[in-house]
Amino acid sequence: MCGIIGYAGHRPAVTVILEGLKRLEYRGYDSAGMALIQNRELNVVRAKGKIRELEDKLAFQDPYHATTGIGHTRWATHGLPSEENAHPHPDQEHKLALVHNGIIENHTRLKRELQQLGCSFRSDTDTEVLSHLISQELKRLGDVPLAMSAALQKVEGSYAVALISLNGEGQIWAARHSSPLILGLGQGENFVASDIPAFLPYTREVVFLEDDEIVQITPSSWQVLDGSSLEHRNKEQVHISWDVQSAQKSGYRHFMLKEIMEQPQVVRDCLAGRTDSSRAATLLPELDHLPLPRRLHIVACGTSYHAGLWARNIFQEWAEIPVEVEIASEFRYNRRIIEEGDLILAVSQSGETADTLAGLRQARQLGHRVLGLCNVLGSSIAREADGVVYTQAGPEISVASTKAMCSQMTAMLLLALHWGRMKGVLEESVCRDVLRGLEDLPAILEAELEGMQQTAQRLARKYAWCRSCFFLGRGDHFPLALEGALKLKEISYIHAEGYAAGEMKHGPIALVDPEFPVFALAPDNALQSKLLSNLQEVRTRGGPVICLAPPGLDQDMDDIWEIPAIRDPLNGFLFLSALQLFAYEMAVYLGKDVDQPRNLAKSVTVE
Ligand code: F6R
Repeated sequence: MCGIIGYAGHRPAVTVILEGLKRLEYRGYDSAGMALIQNRELNVVRAKGKIRELEDKLAFQDPYHATTGIGHTRWATHGLPSEENAHPHPDQEHKLALVHNGIIENHTRLKRELQQLGCSFRSDTDTEVLSHLISQELKRLGDVPLAMSAALQKVEGSYAVALISLNGEGQIWAARHSSPLILGLGQGENFVASDIPAFLPYTREVVFLEDDEIVQITPSSWQVLDGSSLEHRNKEQVHISWDVQSAQKSGYRHFMLKEIMEQPQVVRDCLAGRTDSSRAATLLPELDHLPLPRRLHIVACGTSYHAGLWARNIFQEWAEIPVEVEIASEFRYNRRIIEEGDLILAVSQSGETADTLAGLRQARQLGHRVLGLCNVLGSSIAREADGVVYTQAGPEISVASTKAMCSQMTAMLLLALHWGRMKGVLEESVCRDVLRGLEDLPAILEAELEGMQQTAQRLARKYAWCRSCFFLGRGDHFPLALEGALKLKEISYIHAEGYAAGEMKHGPIALVDPEFPVFALAPDNALQSKLLSNLQEVRTRGGPVICLAPPGLDQDMDDIWEIPAIRDPLNGFLFLSALQLFAYEMAVYLGKDVDQPRNLAKSVTVE
């Protein structure tokens, strides 16, 4: 999705903003731009394509000495990717310019009204409506915060906006509604951004803005106001523990590979302070104020949804809690029965996914309790839920989600153990066993990941020709098969489907031929023999089979990828890593843009 950075300080704003925009590139974008005020003049520079196009354009301008400015990376929603549609959008008189993330739902009506007042529009965006609207209010009210407040009250939809105006050189005004915006506080410099990495090299002191707040920054001050009354609001300053290193590639070729390789540490960080295997206890004070759920409704999208599917049996088995798992965009519109005592578990790495957030809001409006399982501190889902368990995975930069799923799986295992023990249905010995297994898991992953990458590389060379393939699993491994297929299609653009292996003969096997490989997950468990029969059916029809299994599988397959035998469901972490590495190596071999796949954005803040 789009990215915003605003800077008011003592350094050259062009450099700070360009760097900030580069750190937001992972969100996905198709154009970029910047606005600066220098010598009582507003300068707006925009370019279609990558940030380097913007840099090239800036190189032809007079060097800017401005120390205040706003920048944006745009991911087109209204109007094609083009220079005219790129942000910032100036008003008619070129007295202010703004950048915007989100969607103005009533822009058609507002645009008509503004046109009747004589405004002419130069872009096809919903955003331009905002710059004209604020400009009109500024003429009427004479003051930026009053104008922003009046204009934003007429707007329906979601926004994070940052604005500079000739009315206040050296100042940036910003506001949010259902789209993230964070304040970064430095020494003699302040920032606003849609995401923390944008200003991370300069400061780790942040303030999270709430919906309908307006903020003003100057190099030496900041203030947050209520969006309608404009009364001053007291805000808590938070110290972020990530460093620049954790938001950089650290020698890896891609963020995706770095994030896959970080998974041992991700498991450790998620467990930190939350387990005591000697007492077979989980320590989750975040849950203290929430009653034991009678039933769980897991609501999520994409990879987070797969993590929820994976955890379903575990909650049912260990905590005897019935679980429904639903895609958030369906959850919102389907009729369902949620009863007193049920808990909604909103799973989201970013904590900003529009459908998951809307599901949370709808559930809360109906009086249901919601627990958020999020990675991003202070994100909307984390703030709006009745409680939050953070997955503590650190920043996930690659568009394709990897370590987030590993952390969600770890956190949901802890939740299942916690509720199972609380309810008295999970034996202490099982809890102790799992906790010890979890504590040993990082070392096992560490020992395996490099070898796995080599196998993935070899297999990628062998199978990169394929145009379609299946990923098959059964039981807990079926959601992992779905995830393997999602990873492959999103970064290598190879068509892939995940199936429950037992479903093959009910239709999909018709597709199998020598050019349609099947990737199977065959852990050593009660379902293995059934899965192997399904695979023999594939082989009989000439389909090549790659079988991911623990050592000792005595079967005739095209490729057997051995991974260590560890207990269910912890072996899921090894299968997951192998699937991620396979997708990664396929995409690298095919020369794809691994970290920023086409048509995708990191955080999907629109429906
Ligand atoms: C896939 C991927 C997406 C996200 C989905 C939900 O690799 O990244 O499918 O998992 O958009 O995002 P969050 O977890 O931020 O709600």
